[in-house]
Formats: sequence, structure tokens, C-alpha cells
Amino acid sequence: MSTVYLNGKYLPDDQALVNVLDRGFVFGDGVYEVIPVYFGQPFRLPQHLDRLNNSLTAIRMRDPLSAAQWAELLANLIRFNPAAGDQSVYVQITRGPAKRDHAIPKETKPTLFAMCNPITPPDPATLTLGVSVVTLEDIRWKYCHIKAITLLPNVLLRADAGERGAVDAILLRDGVVTEGTASNVFVWNDGRLSTPPKSSYLLPGITRDLVLEIAQQHGVSACEQDVTESDLSAADEIWLTSSTKEILPVTQLNGRPVGAGVPGDRWRTMLAWYQDYKRGLRGSCPS
Ligand code: PDD
Repeated sequence: MSTVYLNGKYLPDDQALVNVLDRGFVFGDGVYEVIPVYFGQPFRLPQHLDRLNNSLTAIRMRDPLSAAQWAELLANLIRFNPAAGDQSVYVQITRGPAKRDHAIPKETKPTLFAMCNPITPPDPATLTLGVSVVTLEDIRWKYCHIKAITLLPNVLLRADAGERGAVDAILLRDGVVTEGTASNVFVWNDGRLSTPPKSSYLLPGITRDLVLEIAQQHGVSACEQDVTESDLSAADEIWLTSSTKEILPVTQLNGRPVGAGVPGDRWRTMLAWYQDYKRGLRGSCPS
């Protein structure tokens, strides 16, 4: 049993109850964030809170908490859910309970929910063999920059990938890569690292930005540019990035090997830099 946060209270998860008329339940009317917690400290919290704010603004809601209140909420939740390893905090804000009506009600009390989950490190097989993905048509809407709780298309796309023997899908809109079902995409072609530019077709990933930042720090040429289906097929390496999976090497694309068909050296180097970056923050965290 874990302790969760719901509307100002810290409760055992089975006692945290939400009104069935909540617009999150009835319409999927809400947004969320997933914030990694390393060494007991939220990672890149200002960036996650900024993105949360942007998602809320995009759905015509205001952030119910200040940055200091968010930091306090997360610190309490982490304290109530001590974990040996890394965790993530899931935060969800919905428009709250109201009579069912598509029109946005004037006065609702948002529902604010947060919980901790362990981040399970990738199993050794994933790190030595990489993962297999397929390309699928991006069937989602055109507001993918909003971290909306309405994830049915992503769920169905992931199921489709699974039925094709892959762990995930890389999504294509008119032959151009957008992102994974819950991750951003990087490719190495001709000695150059690239990732699709930010747009309303993809989520501006916090891990994506950090990978670009780390690449720059280490003098790696990286650019934000369109990645086509043929760039993918010709790639020497493909990575998926997210807060919970960090950087995953893709070694099979549509049943064919990517590069040599094993996790590449550049991935290994970037993952080591990423882990160094995390460890570097440990010194600055209160013990
Ligand atoms: N998802 N794109 C999509 C569609 C995502 O759902 C995610 C993350 C990302 C990567 O963003 P970030 O690096 O900020 O985690 C990109 C989270 C982990 C989830 O839904 O569980």
C-alpha cells in the first residue's frame, strides 16, 4: 500500500476516492506530469512545473499551486513513500466534478492527485540487446504538446506494437517521425545526432532537452530537425528517451537491425554522461 496525495490530504491509496462526476473520469479533462526522483530529490522540477503550467494554460486552467507548494507536496509524498531505488512522482490535475456537459463549467474545484511509483532499472537483457520497435501511423490529435491524461490512442498504439512483436512504436505523420508512444526519438545518421523539432505534434520531453544539453556540453553535434522514415531506416543508432526509461537503445526497426543490431557505442557514451549528470546532482542535494 502506498500513500498518495489527493486534494490536500495524504492517504493510503485505497482510501483516496474521487467523485465519479469528475471531468477527468467522464471526459479525460485533465493533464499530468511524471517527475523522476533520484537520491530522494525531484529531478528537473522547475522544467516539469513549467511544462505542467503550459499544459494547464493550453486547457484553460490555472496552476492551483505555486512552485514552492509543489516542492513541499513532492517532498512530503517522497517522505511518506521511502524507496530504496529511484522513483517517479505522477501528478494529475483534472477540472474536477461537474454535471456532465461538454461546455467548460465556470466554477469547478480542480482535483489534484499525486502518487509515487518505483522506477525499475532496465533489465540487463534490454541493455545488452536493446529494444525492438515498429513504425506506426500517428493517429493522435494535433495537440500532442499538451501532456493530457487522455491517452487512449497511445495505449492502442502500444498494443498494436506489442501484437507486432515490438516493445514500442515510433510514430509517423506523413512519413515524418513525431515521437514514441511515451518517449521522444533520437537518431544518429552520418555522424550527426538529431531529434524532431518541438511542435504541437510531440511532447517537449524533459529528457530530450537534457540529452541535447549534455550532447552540447560534450561537443557532440546535435540538431533539432525533421527525421523522415528513410532517415530512420538508414540510422546507425536510434534512441528513445523519457523520464522513466531514460535513454533506450533501439536495435530492431520493423524487424530489421538498426546499425549493427546491438546497442551502439554512442548510446553507451550518452548513457554514461547521463548517469554522471545525475550523480553530479547528488552532491547538491540535502542528505
Ligand atoms: N511520458 N512523449 C510522450 C508522448 C510521453 O508520454 C513522454 C513521457 C515523453 C518523454 O517526456 P519526458 O522526457 O519529459 O518524460 C515524450 C511519461 C514518462 C509517461 O506518460 O509515463
